[in-house]
Amino acid sequence: MAVRLGDIAPDFTAETTQGTIRFHEWLGDSWGVLFSHPKDFTPVCTTELGYVAKIKPEFDKRNVKVIGLSVDPVDSHVKWEGDIAETQGTPVNFPMIGDPDRTVSDLYDMIHPNANDTLTVRSVFVIGPDKKVKLTITYPASTGRNFDEILRVIDSLQLTAQYKVATPANWTDGQDVIIGAAVSDDEAKTLFPQGWKTVKPYLRVLAQPNKK
Ligand code: BEZ
Repeated sequence: MAVRLGDIAPDFTAETTQGTIRFHEWLGDSWGVLFSHPKDFTPVCTTELGYVAKIKPEFDKRNVKVIGLSVDPVDSHVKWEGDIAETQGTPVNFPMIGDPDRTVSDLYDMIHPNANDTLTVRSVFVIGPDKKVKLTITYPASTGRNFDEILRVIDSLQLTAQYKVATPANWTDGQDVIIGAAVSDDEAKTLFPQGWKTVKPYLRVLAQPNKK
């Protein structure tokens, strides 16, 4: 069964490159990104894991824990990590789940049999501190993910969890935001005393509230 937005992220216990992890306990009060890749010792996955390792400080800054997965076993991940460090210039600095029996892959519907009946697709799940799923994205095996986009969405998710705003197309942190559609003008006056610009009654734009 597919994991959908708003669902509690399924909990599991799994072997990883950093020991046995009980997922919810490991997440604690942090945000989380769980992402799958199709197979160890493959080119696109090698670049993805190297890139995530490089930008891990950006996830740390946002209080986000990152964890990878493939259906290969942990000892294979460990061997492959040597190649990733050598070719991508950064050691893998987050845990990778070994899932040869597909327990976690099945739980998160990461195997799409009409794409490939044995390998995981490139799934991404962003999970909030309440353990609810906030974002799901699925890429095909042939396309490496844009992890800067994942950071951008996390910025939006964290902002909109705190303020009754939404973020427009291609928004990045620091740019103007939109007052949520469910917020009346009267409520907006209380929430945003600094004011806003009404482009249309349904399109009200204001400076990002947590920026000077
Ligand atoms: C890759 O990472 O390059 C890859 C993995 C599985 C299928 C196709 C490509």
